[in-house]
Amino acid sequence: MNNRSSKPDVSEYGSVDPAPPSKIQDIARLESILVDENTRMFERMRVVFSLRNINSSESIDALSQGFKSQSALLRHEIAYVMGQMQNNHALPILEDVLSDENEHVMVRHEAAEALGAIGDIKAKNTLEMYLDHNLPEISESCEVALDLLSHHNSDLV
Ligand SMILES: [Fe+2]
Repeated sequence: MNNRSSKPDVSEYGSVDPAPPSKIQDIARLESILVDENTRMFERMRVVFSLRNINSSESIDALSQGFKSQSALLRHEIAYVMGQMQNNHALPILEDVLSDENEHVMVRHEAAEALGAIGDIKAKNTLEMYLDHNLPEISESCEVALDLLSHHNSDLV
């Protein structure tokens, strides 16, 4: 009997992802697929989740190359997985994304929430800079992220 479910798997992060991780493990190869604008979005997302699962400084650097992608959807997904990874190496990358006034609002929203999810109090200053941003998706995300940081670092803030 086949035990395979028709439902997507739950990831090691407890999430049901929009695409299953790629079987490829080589970071350079994964990065080349991630940045290829001619590759189908489903395959590029599979690469995002593989790089997330590897969760190293090198895999974060590869993911960061995806922020040059034309797709705001893909960039937003990259910011989201960087929050899931909870790896400090992504902090300056996400701070740059949040601070980029030319970036799509939903990508900046996701970068702010990821900075909260990482849980490092070092993100506090950057998040505070956008608390009064005129776009509510950004200001509210920074407020939520700062509350999450103070929830977990109550002795530090
Ligand atoms: Fe979001």
